[in-house]
Amino acid sequence: MAQAVSYEVTDGIAVLQMRNPPVNALGAALRRDLAEALARAVQDREVGAIVLSGAGKGFCAGADIAEFEAPFADPWVPELCDLVENAPKPVIAAIHGFALGGGLELALACHYRLAGAEARVGFPEVNLGLLPGAGGTQRAPRLIGAGAALDLMITGQPVPVTSALVRPAFDMILKEGLNAGARLFARKVIDKGMRPRRTRDQGAGFRDPAGDRKALQTWRARLAGKAEKAPGDILRCVEAAALLPFEVGQEFERAAFDDLLGGDQSRALRHIWRAERAAPRFGELARAPPRPVAQLGIVGGGSRGAGLAAAGLIAGHEVVLVERDAPSLTAALARVARVLDRAVRRGRLTQVQRDGIEAVLHGKTDLVALSEADLVIETAGHDARARAAIFAQLDAVVRDGAVLVSGAAYGDVEALAAQTGCAQDVLALHVPLPTLTAPLAEIGVGRHTGAAAVATLHGFVTGLGKRAVWARAGGGLIGSRLMAACIHAADGLVLSGVAPERIDRDMRGWGMGFGPYQMADMLGLARMGDHLEALPGATGVNPHRVLAEAGRAGRRNRVGWYRYDAGAPRGVPDPDAVALLGVGADGAGDPGDIPGRLLAAMANEGARLLEAGIARSGGDIDVVMTGGFGMARWRGGPICAADAAGLLALRNRLRGLAEAEGGFWTPAPLLDRLIREGGRLGDVEASAG
Ligand code: CAA
Repeated sequence: MAQAVSYEVTDGIAVLQMRNPPVNALGAALRRDLAEALARAVQDREVGAIVLSGAGKGFCAGADIAEFEAPFADPWVPELCDLVENAPKPVIAAIHGFALGGGLELALACHYRLAGAEARVGFPEVNLGLLPGAGGTQRAPRLIGAGAALDLMITGQPVPVTSALVRPAFDMILKEGLNAGARLFARKVIDKGMRPRRTRDQGAGFRDPAGDRKALQTWRARLAGKAEKAPGDILRCVEAAALLPFEVGQEFERAAFDDLLGGDQSRALRHIWRAERAAPRFGELARAPPRPVAQLGIVGGGSRGAGLAAAGLIAGHEVVLVERDAPSLTAALARVARVLDRAVRRGRLTQVQRDGIEAVLHGKTDLVALSEADLVIETAGHDARARAAIFAQLDAVVRDGAVLVSGAAYGDVEALAAQTGCAQDVLALHVPLPTLTAPLAEIGVGRHTGAAAVATLHGFVTGLGKRAVWARAGGGLIGSRLMAACIHAADGLVLSGVAPERIDRDMRGWGMGFGPYQMADMLGLARMGDHLEALPGATGVNPHRVLAEAGRAGRRNRVGWYRYDAGAPRGVPDPDAVALLGVGADGAGDPGDIPGRLLAAMANEGARLLEAGIARSGGDIDVVMTGGFGMARWRGGPICAADAAGLLALRNRLRGLAEAEGGFWTPAPLLDRLIREGGRLGDVEASAG
């Protein structure tokens, strides 16, 4: 079996190089081989100093996240770090590319550290709901101080090795020639008889106790009331570093790490980490290469169309934006300009880039202008008939091989494809608002869509910096279906007298970025009404339709479920909205467990999407809900939350609701199967894509 660590001795210097592609994650084999190579170098009489480096694109990306679901094999990363630190010969870390998490902890356990000037280091564990559990919370403050350690560990953001935060931890930063530099450094160490310099015995980082206390206070205030557990635990461990002997602090850290590792929050964040990496892997990508997209066509310059046009420009595409007449076009181009200006203000675009960018934006009022487009996204049709008409016209003007995309989350892609002679090139796309900054895009694949069109749209959205998620088109893509289910479940409460703002507040408290009624106002109540009418099983009064017909459009005309008066951009509760429904406006209905009810509806809808092959996996659903609909990542999404609470409990709750309120709540048969088999929704993989 190939060794995960190479061993080479020249001129009294042993070079131990980690070789575990692609990122030198500290998996069991690498840990074992590193411990063996270290022991060999220690025993080798010829060796006076040891250099530890990494092959490939970086030094080490930390613990192997794939191993977190089972007990760790020995030596686990903390033990490995102790072995390195306690080695009787000097160990020098030579860091290129990146040293992250356990990889940085390993470097901090070395006696000396060198880095290439391009390298970045950080503690991203907090993104997994964890803390640096291999001595990092104890060693880092001893070298760089509590304030810098907290900044790195609580934000989870890697920084350049040249940054003032981490520079004190390095003996030397080399612009080039890291390997040769490390050997020279090792030679100097041998020649000068320099001894191992254990980080646990260092105290340079403690020289500003007042500064450390201030940093701790500042972070404590910032974290007050936050639901995430890991940042608070990091704070306590870093605080302990200055108060406790190293070994005691290490035990404190270990106990906190184990506690986080076994907790729901870290489990949810690990689920999201895996799911986000799996989501963009579409089966179609192996079957056809993407076609190049030089020119992007956008039909319709409303907020979605303008956002997509701006995103396309920023990503380097030539954009043709078509509106129905000159005044609409002027308004659409002004909208694009506003999105671009905002991008400059937020640092996504420099002013210099902004100045030149509109030279490749062409505003037109005739679809004929799209004859050279490689990809056309339609965002103009307000209903199925209007969309079909646009697709029929597009078919007549675009060139062979152009990919035609419906920008509607709901919509019948087969019906649109039937308007064209190129069904293999027709598909759907849904980008959550705000379009430019939304981190993901759902790609709705029709039954006749070909792999090349899917690969082309995938390549396009990836180029916009968005994560692509696969969905089967027809009857609503993933996020819209789950939100509709959530809102329908909430409507049942509103119609029984529970105030919408109470529901929104409880859902935000649970971990949603926006409450369902805030979301409905953003989307527009007429469209929300459409979504609910398309939701399978949703019957009875459609309160969004009632409000829309009473002139309450949502945020667009400043009155929907909330009123958006001047000075109240976030909206104020409006009892007149509920009064239109003929229910008590005092919010006196019995709310029960609001998040439990709404999440049950979402998880059940998710199970239905999995059964129908509309979503490929439970992970994809959670990626959409956390990335596109503001659900807290540490909740892991509705599928992960259902698994954490137990599928049996979910099914029983659904059965009770179905008895009381009817068919929408009928448990998806998939739940019965998973309960019988002891399975989890989050592990379901449909064979689509
Ligand atoms: N464990 C397992 N796999 C990892 C990994 C890790 N720590 N880091 C990256 N990978 C995998 C990725 O999943 C990906 O796999 P696929 O090709 O199968 O999708 C592959 O390595 C390449 O990763 P990227 O596509 O992300 O490559 P990149 O060049 O864009 O970025 C990186 C490289 C900066 C290292 C980035 O992958 C990253 O930030 N990784 C996460 C690192 C991390 O969170 N480390 C902390 C681990 S927890 C810990 O260490 C606990 C402790 O205290 C002991």
